[in-house]
Amino acid sequence: MLSHILLSPWAPFMPPAKSDFAGSLDTLYGFIWWTMAFFFVIIVFLLFYLPYKYRRGDKPTLTPRITHNLALELTWSGIPALLIIVIAFWGFNLFVKAYVPPGGDVTEINVTGKQWAWSFEHKDGTVIPGELHVPVGRPVKLVMSSTDVIHSFFIPDFRVKSDVVPGRYSSIWFTPKEVGDHQVFCTEYCGDSHSAMLATVHVVTEEQYKETLENGGLPKEAPPAQRGALIYQRAGCVTCHTVDGVRLVGPTFKGIFGRTEQLVGGGSLTVDENYIRESILQPQAKIVAGFEGQQMPSFQGVLNDRQIGWIIEYLKTLK
Ligand code: CUA
Repeated sequence: MLSHILLSPWAPFMPPAKSDFAGSLDTLYGFIWWTMAFFFVIIVFLLFYLPYKYRRGDKPTLTPRITHNLALELTWSGIPALLIIVIAFWGFNLFVKAYVPPGGDVTEINVTGKQWAWSFEHKDGTVIPGELHVPVGRPVKLVMSSTDVIHSFFIPDFRVKSDVVPGRYSSIWFTPKEVGDHQVFCTEYCGDSHSAMLATVHVVTEEQYKETLENGGLPKEAPPAQRGALIYQRAGCVTCHTVDGVRLVGPTFKGIFGRTEQLVGGGSLTVDENYIRESILQPQAKIVAGFEGQQMPSFQGVLNDRQIGWIIEYLKTLK
């Protein structure tokens, strides 16, 4: 605890402030924190000191009859009222700043949340699951929606957070200050793998940002199966399907390609390219027996044909 206070003495317990907005929020947070600490110390001191000072002792004494004290009452009403008004205006001002993006040159990125992964669609149509790439030093606006339940998008280092709700858009914006990586959390309980619904923000230079979009966020020279492995991680397949034979929400991918599966409602099939593609785009079409009632979301519009192709190549390697 002490190290946290010493590391950022003005805004204790806060992670490093890595966006323009984070600094101004920390100033308000620090003001509230230290005001609170100041009164906490005074009140706890009096709590012990006054009963000691006015303890009954040996000889009983009469309590003096005091009806009121105008100066004292004005002080203990006036100071808290003033503090609360200051905090309210200051906070409202920052709230508006946090949710109204500046005009001008703003990079807009669409964010989709679903059980249990984030994906990011850039203006040129590039969709990158699980990794948000943003250029440094320029305002970025995220336009966010959910395809299933309520999620919440939170980047602690930037001090921005907003619910992500099906059927409507919410948005946040920030200006990253320096190149580096930051953690994204889902902070609304959204089902089994809520705690695994993570993503990384990569703040990169303008040139790197262009290059990333050209390569769909994947290593330039990587073979298809390796790209598929990355998408398996980032698109959230990993939260329901293992590659080591362990059964989670969905069937394991170990040895899946060419496997014969019994289907719900009878019949069977051999897993091939077309079945994998269909299961990604229309998960409810042919369900493997024993997995009735699992609500895998469709990846229509989240993964494109090339990305699905890479996943198929990856699944072929899982013997
Ligand atoms: Cu999405 Cu918790």
